[in-house]
Amino acid sequence: MRTSVAVLFLLPLAALAQDAGAILTPKPGPEPRINGPKVYGARPGMPFLYRIPATGMRPMRFAARGLPAGLKLDAATGIINGTTPAKAGPYNLTLRASNARGKAERRFRIVVGDTLALTPPMGWNHWYTYYDRVDDKLFRAAADAMIASGMADYGYQYVNIDDCWMMKPGSTDPTLSGTARDAAGAIRANGRFPDMNALTAYIHARGLKAGLYTSPGPLTCARYEGSYQHEEADARQFAAWGFDFLKYDWCSYRKIATGEDLADRRKPYELMGAILRKQNREIVFNLCQYGMSDVWKWGGEVGGHAWRTTGDLGLEKDTRLPGFYSIAFKNAEHYDYAGPGRWNDPDYILIGVIGNARKIGEAPRRTTLTADEQYAYMSMWALMAAPLFYSGDITRLDDFTLNVLCNAEVIDVDQDPLGKQARVARKTADEFVLIKPLEDGSVAAGLFNLADEPRTIAVTLAEAGLKGRVAARDLWRQKDLGVSQDRFTAAVARHGVSMVRLLPR
Ligand code: GAL
Repeated sequence: MRTSVAVLFLLPLAALAQDAGAILTPKPGPEPRINGPKVYGARPGMPFLYRIPATGMRPMRFAARGLPAGLKLDAATGIINGTTPAKAGPYNLTLRASNARGKAERRFRIVVGDTLALTPPMGWNHWYTYYDRVDDKLFRAAADAMIASGMADYGYQYVNIDDCWMMKPGSTDPTLSGTARDAAGAIRANGRFPDMNALTAYIHARGLKAGLYTSPGPLTCARYEGSYQHEEADARQFAAWGFDFLKYDWCSYRKIATGEDLADRRKPYELMGAILRKQNREIVFNLCQYGMSDVWKWGGEVGGHAWRTTGDLGLEKDTRLPGFYSIAFKNAEHYDYAGPGRWNDPDYILIGVIGNARKIGEAPRRTTLTADEQYAYMSMWALMAAPLFYSGDITRLDDFTLNVLCNAEVIDVDQDPLGKQARVARKTADEFVLIKPLEDGSVAAGLFNLADEPRTIAVTLAEAGLKGRVAARDLWRQKDLGVSQDRFTAAVARHGVSMVRLLPR
């Protein structure tokens, strides 16, 4: 007999409209909860830095069982520092957080070997709010905001500088017009970044990581100094400055490339990938060439940990639906190519106070996406195991934006150790269904309503790759919905989502 879940917890469709703008996720309790990845890739004998992400009342004390020799945990801050073991292999830890209200434990496996980014990187990138208006002060403020807002307690970790930190050939602005390289050929930051080492030290002192950007071409996309013919020197400089992440953006390399074949497209990334691996620090490598020559098929082979699969999300024109949907539809097709250490990157999360990529001088404004669209956006990114980089104004986060960015159960889907990107189970004019298998045998499902009115959407257990009975949990509301058989059904708001975890019973 079929048990219809619909009767158990289906909201009347008319009630959905009133949900708009609502904060769905309950605030974390005062007791500790450890968040973030359960598995973490590192290379042997390298500097190690990890801040245990945990919500709950402070002060909190941290402990770790199974910490390999060479790593040290600061019990008050939860920051682990040191050098990774020389011997490759998995190191199984149990992390513990305790406060006056209780304690929590979480397993954490450090896999020392060749692969970094065993789960999708998470952080903030300046591009879509600040463009060329960047300086040292901004990134210090961003690191502070990542901690103060609580984002770091959910696993956000990278503070990433995008374009415009270098000198700009031909500029008349005194802060940008110095010589781009010193006498020995080393790249110089522009006058707005007086001391890169001091900046990364500031970020690292908070247990966070620092990212940088350049182009394989002579100039970046914003026409600042690029790395062409200086690749070795630049990678060495980035490592010496203390950066942990590099975004490598095609830009003016198109004038250098001698053709459009696979080999031409791979060449600059192969070169930089090999150079980065020789540095004495771990640098996550983010390829940005907008998906040319099916980058998802070879990005991992050239040392990439994530690669943009499309053009800029901020430039994507809205159709009937906002631009992030079309980016997601394209990115979703490549699910077979993602896995631990190699992620499809559909670009950043643009919600909250955000700039206008088509008019970059304009002051940033609040997103025009509805609340339901924002839930759909974050759900798609988590189901697609996408790198989670917020690119709105991190210094002006409101409660609603934080609630979308910081739902621990949604982030757990993104960071699941199995590292599968959701498969597209259905795509019609009105419905989009994503199914992501998780490590514990459960499945995360996203039921997206593309239509302009509320709609009831069902996914059969067969479509979800499950059978028998399942317990459904609403991830945005963090609420158990009951047991169902045969299918899961939900009422979904216009352009919104029902995101659930289906656990076999
Ligand atoms: C684009 C890239 C953007 C941003 C910008 C900087 O090519 O896709 O993410 O990095 O360049 O100029």
